[in-house]
Amino acid sequence: MLAKIEQLLQEVESMTASNTEELEALRIKYLGKKGAINALMTDFRNVPAEKKKEVGMKLNELKSRTQERIAALKEANESQDNGISELDLTRTAYPIKLGTRHPLTIVRNKIIDIFSRMGFTIAEGPEVEDDLHVFTSLNFAADHPARDMQDTFFIDVNKEDVTKNVILRTHTSSVQVRTMEKTQPPIRIICPGRVYRNEAISYRAHCFFHQVEGLYIDKNVSFSDLKQVLLQFSKEMFGAETKIRLRPSYFPFTEPSAEMDISCDICGGKGCPFCKYTGWVEILGCGMVDPNVLEACGIDSKIYSGYAFGMGVERITNLKYKVKDLRMFSENDIRFLKEFEMAY
Ligand code: DAH
Repeated sequence: MLAKIEQLLQEVESMTASNTEELEALRIKYLGKKGAINALMTDFRNVPAEKKKEVGMKLNELKSRTQERIAALKEANESQDNGISELDLTRTAYPIKLGTRHPLTIVRNKIIDIFSRMGFTIAEGPEVEDDLHVFTSLNFAADHPARDMQDTFFIDVNKEDVTKNVILRTHTSSVQVRTMEKTQPPIRIICPGRVYRNEAISYRAHCFFHQVEGLYIDKNVSFSDLKQVLLQFSKEMFGAETKIRLRPSYFPFTEPSAEMDISCDICGGKGCPFCKYTGWVEILGCGMVDPNVLEACGIDSKIYSGYAFGMGVERITNLKYKVKDLRMFSENDIRFLKEFEMAY
């Protein structure tokens, strides 16, 4: 009998079960009413008295060891089951959350894309500038109000030479100057970038915003070239039906200068509150580069002429997506940004 117990002990130690059915079968085989251990218990009666103690102890050991092994196998199986349920292939897929591009980035990229296809390349320049590149070379008179502290952020004031004043650029026209200083025509560039103005922040003004400047310098460039490029841009940006209108204006760095309106795309030009019942909305400033600017940048104004234009990215974005409050662009409100999920 001892040999039989020993054999069962070995069996129990090496038994395995990969699922609950197999485990239950083992339990019945060893611990069930008609199982191997109960059968030994019945046989125990026939064990001679002097051997009863030894055999009894061995039998008890077998029983408790079997119970332990079965419990251990059950636990192992259960933790494995959990692993399987995590891999439930019938579950619906997790929605993968993608971020969105900022509306200003979407519109800036679109502007870049349109002008790139017309042969313009991108030029960039510093945001911390000097007076020479932001004002003096662009033909701003010494007493021009834009040079005033009220409009411009000053970083360093140079008492001997105002052209060396270090300021935050107030427009991307400074990149025109930097490009003309180091390149001879033909020049055909757009300059996207951030600009700064000393303004009180409200729904319609901010202390920083974004512009895209354009510049084309070559022999025989005329105002009609400018007009054609801007018309093409407007149609691509706002739709093929869009009309443009140029109104005479003034900028120190262009002569003649103009402001350009597009037909209001809300009322189609009939007049509505958005266009203040004029049928037109202003989108940019432009003109023929003033010969003084060409000369200040080392380009011979008797040989070359050119046009320039400058537009606000926020302004175009407002028109395209009807954003009423400029501050939304810099607040990072996820509900606002998510509205542009499908915009690009
Ligand atoms: N620099 C002007 C501004 O910030 C915009 C502008 C107007 C740029 C006319 C130009 C231009 O190049 O020709 O308001």
